[in-house]
Amino acid sequence: MTELATSYDILKVLGHGGFSAVFKARRKTDGDIVALKQLDLTIESENQKEYRDFKEEVDILKKLDHPNIVKVYEEHILDHKPSLEMEFVDGETLETLLKKEQYFSIEDTLDLIEQIAGALNYCHHYYLPDKLVLHTESALLRRNAVIHNDINPKNIIRSRNEDGSYRYVLIDFGLSFTDPNAVRHSKKEEGMAEYKAPEKWSGTTVDAPSDIYSFGIVLYEVLTGTVPFPVKDYKIAGDMIQLEENHRSAAIPDMCQKRIAALKTVPKKANAIFPNGWSCW
Ligand SMILES: Nc1ncnc2c1ncn2[C@@H]1O[C@H](COP(=O)(O)OP(=O)(O)O)[C@@H](O)[C@H]1O
Ligand SMILES: [Mg+2]
Repeated sequence: MTELATSYDILKVLGHGGFSAVFKARRKTDGDIVALKQLDLTIESENQKEYRDFKEEVDILKKLDHPNIVKVYEEHILDHKPSLEMEFVDGETLETLLKKEQYFSIEDTLDLIEQIAGALNYCHHYYLPDKLVLHTESALLRRNAVIHNDINPKNIIRSRNEDGSYRYVLIDFGLSFTDPNAVRHSKKEEGMAEYKAPEKWSGTTVDAPSDIYSFGIVLYEVLTGTVPFPVKDYKIAGDMIQLEENHRSAAIPDMCQKRIAALKTVPKKANAIFPNGWSCW
């Protein structure tokens, strides 16, 4: 089994969660810069079920080819861990950007919508190889859809194109599935509950609309600086029950009022908030 250090130079830790670590790395064979994600799972052999599941999913991700979806290159077992080599996206996540800037201009939001909705449309209508479709009980596989299943501001990176325009890139298909039974990292709740579609709380079939719902929450946040239903403490069961209830039945808090409140907090962007004399947007 290969050791990470024989194939890559690690340049930087990009992210480190409970289930994986992501590094900026230099591939030793050709010097190319890549992002390397290692799952926190020990693998002893390529025939182990967990690795076969991982590889099956990566095989699909490798085929996705869209400018706003991170390009997945290869999978390996490095230091006994399933590892994914992918395009290094040089930029910042929407989460980091929102911490700095609080909200986006209307123009930037429209750009984000066009790019990420395009990426979602692409994977929601992705045609899976016939052999997978024929041999499955899964409704989602028969529908030929790849569902991201973890749309939130940490999983969208903004980088710059050579001409200075923004490129938004969808990353972290680690919870994506073509087969709902294959959702493997479902323990990863924290940080994403506020973006979770109502049907995901009850465990009923999750499908393309769940991604679109979550993206809607992200858009609410980039326009107003806050999610519609924030949670103070994930560990308090009552807060989580309330969150679920809000997503099921509460009215959506007025976006105009929230955006105006954001304007008052960060006034430097007044022109972006009231372009051409619009009353709110
Ligand atoms: N391809 C990439 N290029 C640049 N940074 C990345 C890339 N993939 C992940 N990251 C960084 O690492 C963090 C964690 O990666 P992610 O795939 O979302 O892992 P997790 O499953 O822990 O959420 C991201 O929020 C981002 O900051
Ligand atoms: Mg992530």
